[in-house]
Amino acid sequence: MKSRYEDAKNVFVDSIDINDYIELESSMVAYKQLEHSMDKPLKMILLFGRPGTGKSILLNYIQDKLKHQKEIYYFDTPTLNEKEFFHKLFKILTKKDLPSNTVVNFSALVDYCKKLRGKRELIILLDEAQMYEADMMEKIRLLSDSRAVKFVVALHKTDDEDLIAKEHFKTRIWEVIELKNGSREEQTVYIHKKLLKKNLFEIANSIVEKDMKLIHKYTQGNYRECNKLLYTIFEICEFYDKNEPSQINYERIPKRIIEMAALKLGYINV
Ligand SMILES: Nc1ncnc2c1ncn2[C@@H]1O[C@H](COP(=O)(O)OP(=O)(O)OP(=O)(O)O)[C@@H](O)[C@H]1O
Ligand SMILES: [Mg+2]
Repeated sequence: MKSRYEDAKNVFVDSIDINDYIELESSMVAYKQLEHSMDKPLKMILLFGRPGTGKSILLNYIQDKLKHQKEIYYFDTPTLNEKEFFHKLFKILTKKDLPSNTVVNFSALVDYCKKLRGKRELIILLDEAQMYEADMMEKIRLLSDSRAVKFVVALHKTDDEDLIAKEHFKTRIWEVIELKNGSREEQTVYIHKKLLKKNLFEIANSIVEKDMKLIHKYTQGNYRECNKLLYTIFEICEFYDKNEPSQINYERIPKRIIEMAALKLGYINV
């Protein structure tokens, strides 16, 4: 028989699907700031934050929200090489497909953009921009100088690298919007809303404030880490539910299980 915890577990699989988006306070603040910045005469806007703070899902949400008002496009992880990138951009700009064996002439593309100035404005949401090479970013900047194409550049921040300090980002900052890890309150809202969206009321109620404190302590309010921890907690619950139901308290997730999950993920050591 299927365990009631199976659905709960699957709620916490990482997803950047906008149907899973939750209007968290800080994410909505960033959304409003971005929307406001997009209306200013800026060429580039930076969305900055540690991995797992919700940049990609926010960009997807913005694209969906504004798609009827603006020409707005989402460029995901840059696995594309430069040629493919410009093909994609060419298609968006001209609404025409180029044969795959041709290479877009970059200066012609810039000229094309210059001609669009004042007539059309495109917004490109560029995710994972830390993966673009410096010369590619330089080309992106040249395109943005035309003022027909505006870029929202999402960058992730790590401890060992100060990306904004890199030459090609430093000289043209623009406007910076930062996403941070969630507070305990916000993470609580996140966990509850995720479960309630799937009608898992009892399970949502079985995680009480004390548990939320513990979860926040382990994950530091990072949404990706939170997903991992909750997934593991429910995976353990599912196991007991199927094999040793006496180990489970359906009214309240046992603290022991949260600790086991934290141990499994390396948040704590024995
Ligand atoms: N507002 C939100 N609503 C719903 N889910 C969210 C929200 N914010 C974050 N998440 C969850 O957190 C996970 C991580 O978010 P996301 O992938 O957007 O982070 P990121 O900042 O783009 O990370 P990276 O820098 O590693 O690309 C998502 O898979 C999603 O499940
Ligand atoms: Mg991302």
